[in-house]
Amino acid sequence: MLMPRKKFIAGNWKMNTTIDEAVELAKGVVAAVGDCTDVDIAVCPPYTNLVAVGEAIKGSNIKLGAQDVHWVEKGAFTGKVSCAMLKAVSVEYVIIGHSEQRTYFGETNETVNKKTKAALGAGLKPIVCVGETLDERNDGKMETIVEAQVRGAFEGIERDGALTCTIAYEPVWAIGTGVNATPEQANEAHAFIRRILAEIYDDDFAQSMRIQYGGSMKPGNAKDLLGQSDVDGGLIGGAALKADDFAGIVKPA
Ligand code: 13P
Repeated sequence: MLMPRKKFIAGNWKMNTTIDEAVELAKGVVAAVGDCTDVDIAVCPPYTNLVAVGEAIKGSNIKLGAQDVHWVEKGAFTGKVSCAMLKAVSVEYVIIGHSEQRTYFGETNETVNKKTKAALGAGLKPIVCVGETLDERNDGKMETIVEAQVRGAFEGIERDGALTCTIAYEPVWAIGTGVNATPEQANEAHAFIRRILAEIYDDDFAQSMRIQYGGSMKPGNAKDLLGQSDVDGGLIGGAALKADDFAGIVKPA
């Protein structure tokens, strides 16, 4: 018997919040949904705010996530942060391969794979992001792109490790644009990702893995998106920056 997939809502705060703002936001999230056990919840503040946010969410059901990680253990990599550094400040989840990393900072399917392997090796739980651009969708390439991203991310990763990952399907055209994928578009893409996972691993694996949707999810559209059979949660950008809005997405989940 397969366990039903528990919904998972994560807030990606991106490059927002100073430490004071982060603590205030984290406290707001704790007050609003900190005792919720029906849904897994995480917040992913910028690196500089991880410790303070970790303190603010302590004792609640909110978990801590980071927005990226480097795959090398330590050394001369100016500006980078390692898995061990994240573990040392009680980070549990790490976002890997966000489209903003891919677009602006040279992230490739290969670096996503290296980061995912390193994170798993360190006991972090990766949230692996995939998704096509508007041009790619209009050219009928959504499936080709997403398949390459999924296969690339999990290349050489054994089943048990891969099962601790979450995939976030984030169509680039929906991120920060106010134009979310329709529930049907999201569900179709998620079902497609599950078919790829069944090919890489097996059917049970594909049915067990959680796939979040990300891209302009907000309280007003969360219920419909989260009501889809293959949508297991959300990776929230803009709406994660207000505790009430974030809570308004967690509640329908
Ligand atoms: P928005 O919710 O602001 O569209 O961002 C989504 C996202 O990129 C989450 O990682």
